[in-house]
Amino acid sequence: MLLGVARIIGDADGKTGEFAVLVGDVWQGRGIGGKLLEKCLLIAEKQGFKTVHGIVLKENKNMLTLGKKLGFEAKRDLDAGENRLVIHFGKS
Ligand SMILES: CC(C)(COP(=O)(O)OP(=O)(O)OC[C@H]1O[C@@H](n2cnc3c(N)ncnc32)[C@H](O)[C@@H]1OP(=O)(O)O)[C@@H](O)C(=O)NCCC(=O)NCCS
Repeated sequence: MLLGVARIIGDADGKTGEFAVLVGDVWQGRGIGGKLLEKCLLIAEKQGFKTVHGIVLKENKNMLTLGKKLGFEAKRDLDAGENRLVIHFGKS
């Protein structure tokens, strides 16, 4: 049984990273994904990351809503079916 998992994989430059987050179907909508990703972002910022991004299908309203809530910008500069969520640390 999977409850939830989140990760940020850092690039070689140590400044940028890509996130992924997954919460088991029956556990969704209880704040778990938000908490997991928020914790990962706090750690990444403390480690000196400047930017974290992730690719999200445009139909994935839950992730796009969650990303906006956490401070990500949504950019539509990829294939028509995808958005890139980007957060820059040190900006508010
Ligand atoms: C996207 C995902 C990680 C969200 O996890 P979650 O634990 O359900 O999200 P949370 O309960 O923390 O919700 C945080 C916010 O996201 C939004 N949200 C999440 N689920 C939602 C839903 N079913 N309907 C509407 N908004 C939703 C809300 O704004 C919510 O904030 P609120 O509860 O204060 O309104 C989860 O749906 C998931 O695992 N999806 C499949 C994998 C995936 O798409 N991962 C993202 C690509 S890496």
